Amino acid sequence: MVSVAIDGPAGAGKSTIARAIARELGYLYVDTGALYRAIGLFALEQGADPKDPEQVLPLLERTQLSLRFAAGEQQVWLNGRDVSQQIRQNPVSMAASAVSAIPQVRAFLFDLQQNLAKENNVVMDGRDIGTVVLPQAQVKIFLTASPEERARRRHEELAQRGQQVDYAQLLEEVRRRDYNDAHRAAAPLRQAPDALLVDTTGNSLEWSVAQLTEIVKERLRDVL
Ligand code: DC
Repeated sequence: MVSVAIDGPAGAGKSTIARAIARELGYLYVDTGALYRAIGLFALEQGADPKDPEQVLPLLERTQLSLRFAAGEQQVWLNGRDVSQQIRQNPVSMAASAVSAIPQVRAFLFDLQQNLAKENNVVMDGRDIGTVVLPQAQVKIFLTASPEERARRRHEELAQRGQQVDYAQLLEEVRRRDYNDAHRAAAPLRQAPDALLVDTTGNSLEWSVAQLTEIVKERLRDVL
């Protein structure tokens, strides 16, 4: 099986780029952030503090989580409910970042992610795919962009979904999430030594998609 790992901070364009590459290659696109979001959502729904392991860990025993794929689109199912839309609500982002710092949460999600890559050719995006989940991935990309650009993209994305959130608040959240994700002890966000670093600041997503699709295809031609 072939794996393409795409890591980087929130708003660097990972999901748009990974989805487009997966479509082009005929691989399964797996968005691993959705799994952390589902646990963050469950914590919020249950009135648990997402930062507090003592409140979050008992919830894992009651968490049935799966990814399903319908016409290439990923759905996230939590305890028998399709929560694919709910996990995109803005407050769930911070909750996901908080629960993702808990090592037992990461361990809980590890097999699910690895099994998908054992059974399918995948383009998987996240924070630790090239470093921890799929260190054997044939192609690894680390995508980044300036915090301002990422906050701007997030602002647009939320506006398109009808959610009006202040740009300054989003910039602050991007910075806080970057800090949390990069400074946690468990699988912090960092570039794998063999990953290609791509900065998308100032480039349109369409341009980045086209450029990266070519890069990935070329690398796969070399290694396969
Ligand atoms: O990609 P995203 O913004 O939907 O991810 C939500 C949170 O989940 C993010 O703040 C960090 C965490 N995450 C992680 O720790 N490891 C991953 N592989 C994917 C996401």
